[in-house]
Amino acid sequence: MILVLIGYMASGKSTFGRILAEKLHYEFIDLDDYIEKNEKSTISDIFKIKGEIHFRKLETQYLKELLESKKDLVLSLGGGTPCYSSNMNLILESNDVKSIYLKASIPTLMARLKNEKGKRPLVAHIETDDMLAEFIGKHLFERSPFYSMANVTITTDNKSLKAIMEELV
Ligand code: S3P
Repeated sequence: MILVLIGYMASGKSTFGRILAEKLHYEFIDLDDYIEKNEKSTISDIFKIKGEIHFRKLETQYLKELLESKKDLVLSLGGGTPCYSSNMNLILESNDVKSIYLKASIPTLMARLKNEKGKRPLVAHIETDDMLAEFIGKHLFERSPFYSMANVTITTDNKSLKAIMEELV
């Protein structure tokens, strides 16, 4: 079984994914880390040097590779992965793959993203809180239809790590 965690930037995909994998004795892979390792480059540099379209192609390529080759895996995707190419359909149509959407509100995402903008090229340049809130709002409006296609949705606002983990397991 492959469990795919999807959700917006800073929704906790990697944090919860890592703990979930440990509990289930599954392997854990973060797609961004996997791309960085295989491309020998950071996500920021890939965006800067080759551009976002190239990054989206890499995401699809490595997502396919992992879905086809792995089992007993918790895979945490990038925030945009489900929203490009036919990645969400690919996930839904793959055998023995379940997708989980970690849903969080704009204020929750804002609070987490504010301190972690640096390594995320899409938000690194956004200066004020108001601009960041507007960006997240617009982005979620476009992306939510893809995220909502997941097999399971877990809302994470105002819940403890323990409560979220219980729901996930
Ligand atoms: C992106 C999210 C990032 C990373 C890239 C683009 C996005 O991953 O893949 O910066 O389009 O939302 P995280 O969701 O892990 O931050």
